[in-house]
Amino acid sequence: MRYLVTGGLGFIGSAFIRLLAAERPEVEIVNLDAMTYAANPANLAQLPAGARYRFLKGDITDPAAVAEAIGDGIDAIVNFAAETHVDRSILDPEAFLRTDILGTHTLLEAVRERGIARYLQVSTDEVYGDVESGESIESSPLRPRSPYSASKAGGDLQVLAYRTTYGLPVLITRGSNTYGPYQYPEKLIPLFVTNLIDDQSVPLYGDGLQVRDWLHVEDHARGILGVLERGELGEVYNIGGGNPRTNIEITRRLLEGCGRSFESHVRHVADREGHDRRYAISSAKAHALGWRPQIDFEGGLEATIAWYREHESWWRPLKSGEFLAYYQRQYAHR
Ligand code: TYD
Repeated sequence: MRYLVTGGLGFIGSAFIRLLAAERPEVEIVNLDAMTYAANPANLAQLPAGARYRFLKGDITDPAAVAEAIGDGIDAIVNFAAETHVDRSILDPEAFLRTDILGTHTLLEAVRERGIARYLQVSTDEVYGDVESGESIESSPLRPRSPYSASKAGGDLQVLAYRTTYGLPVLITRGSNTYGPYQYPEKLIPLFVTNLIDDQSVPLYGDGLQVRDWLHVEDHARGILGVLERGELGEVYNIGGGNPRTNIEITRRLLEGCGRSFESHVRHVADREGHDRRYAISSAKAHALGWRPQIDFEGGLEATIAWYREHESWWRPLKSGEFLAYYQRQYAHR
């Protein structure tokens, strides 16, 4: 078996490759990654000796790069390659449309031409938009509200259209907010933890009462593998952590874990434009495949804080150069 994993140097993609290498040693892994800002070869530095792993630098919007990665054939494509940060999508939407929609299209064309047996699109619960009450199920309407989530929804719709039109063997997973080691420090949890370790303040948007459902990256990777191996073709599967928390609750835990106080270290800043108040999904369909999150949230968060404390050499180089320019652009005016 040979799998093509795209975006495998990113946060969730690299967790998936580490999982495959550990638990499916018979699978040969080809990683196609454009090495844009959030990609990091260090995420895969600890692959087991003898892992059947090959890296190719290339962009999923480039048909030649995709063809090269497929080579003389592969059994499945798992597409993690994406622009993922909502705040960046508000500043610069175009890259999101290119990678998340056009890139998906390029991969689907390759699946069609080469007759690849399985294609899994890694998507997000953000495509359902703001969920006032209850939980989104897989057939709920897509109501994306940011350039990021609209781009991911565009990708999902292409995948489903290729199923209907060409009968392609596709699957979609929609994961909830993911946390854990190796997450680029622009997202809420790693940004706040690394700021707090450095005795800096953390920028809390608006009233901080927005709700996200937190999922450990290793549980997310296991969910994707479960859907890849046991999902029904043409179907969508929500993968939620089942840990709804307000941003203030998360912030309090991080402050506690880093020994800082709310009064001294929280900076209340202007809210994100079009900020979704709440995400909530039902994962009953993924549960029926036998998947369940295994990592308890409180313990997982504590271990994540400890990981960032113990891996300064991983994140400190990231918080320079491009990141500082972004941080300035994103937060200075708030
Ligand atoms: P984020 O990690 O960007 O994920 P998403 O927007 O995809 O849910 O943000 C999680 C929540 O944290 C979201 O409600 C926005 C909020 N947030 C802040 O309050 N301050 C910040 O600096 C960031 C990055 C996020």
